[in-house]
Amino acid sequence: MEILRQGGVVALPTETVYGLAANAEDELAVRRVFAIKGRPATHPLIVHLAGVDALPDWARSIPEEARRLAAAFWPGPLTLVLPRTSRATDAVTGGQDTVALRVPAHPVALAVLRELGGGLAAPSANRFGRVSPTTAEHVRHDLGNDVDLVLDGGPSIVGVESTIVDLSSGAPAILRPGGLAAEELERVLGYPVPVRTASTVRVSGTLASHYAPRVGVVLVEPSEALARVEALRLQGLQVGFLGPSTLSLPRELIRLDIPEDPAGAARLLYLRLREADVAGLDVLVACLPPAQGLGLAVRDRLSRAAAPRTPEA
Ligand code: TXA
Ligand code: MG
Repeated sequence: MEILRQGGVVALPTETVYGLAANAEDELAVRRVFAIKGRPATHPLIVHLAGVDALPDWARSIPEEARRLAAAFWPGPLTLVLPRTSRATDAVTGGQDTVALRVPAHPVALAVLRELGGGLAAPSANRFGRVSPTTAEHVRHDLGNDVDLVLDGGPSIVGVESTIVDLSSGAPAILRPGGLAAEELERVLGYPVPVRTASTVRVSGTLASHYAPRVGVVLVEPSEALARVEALRLQGLQVGFLGPSTLSLPRELIRLDIPEDPAGAARLLYLRLREADVAGLDVLVACLPPAQGLGLAVRDRLSRAAAPRTPEA
């Protein structure tokens, strides 16, 4: 806690992924987060709060939909983008007039937030463009001594980042599919919320190449898996397969199993992408889950992992 009060940077567990946290009102500390991540300063951060009561401190207008979603899903894997108050500085928002807010559902993160009594600006605790960490060990591996402290709260149970919903103007829209299913939003609001990732708002998780392991990724639907794997093996490549263990494929493959149910797949996705990088593969064939529930987020992350690499990512 002293570390955060004095402008330090602390990696801490959340239910989605580990975050790299700094006091959101300390501009120098926030700048250090950007420096450690290697993230462009114009890409805004999420401010984490201890509870819904803190919402008016950070959001100057709170539409009815925001209240309902916060009441239903906080603490939880949902981030709301709202018009900011002056407490949300340009350093945090990238100079935008909106701020992204969420109350994480992890006892360690909540305990730190309650004791701090303010907001924590925290992006995922990985280097820019890489796979997000779901364990304290991943954070130490990625960021090493660059952080002042790594709090270990066990493996993240959701496994993919929060769902970001823009409520700053007009009808709600999903800016990033994530750990809260779109169906859940619809259940509470009574209408479907469209996905709008190609916006003018700077959301780094929506860059084409992001969440990327080092090995090249090829996407397949389950029905195409066998043919694609065979073709790549005929080229003499060492092929890895990321998907459910129930698909029957050649025995020589290196298999990285993820459960068939989308929530289970989300939980293990980033761990498996990291394993793919140390498995000595030439290519990773990744099987897409159905676009239902958390399957939407898993498909989104796999698509970005498979996108052509830009120098920036
Ligand atoms: O689950 C999560 O959301 C994790 C954990 C640590 O809470 N955090 C996370 O942070 O994924 P980060 O920085 O890796 O991704 C936050 C996303 C970025 O894509 C950023 O551009 C977007 O939120 N964002 C932040 N402020 C925004 C705003 N005002 N308008 C639109 N997007 C915003
Ligand atoms: Mg991130």
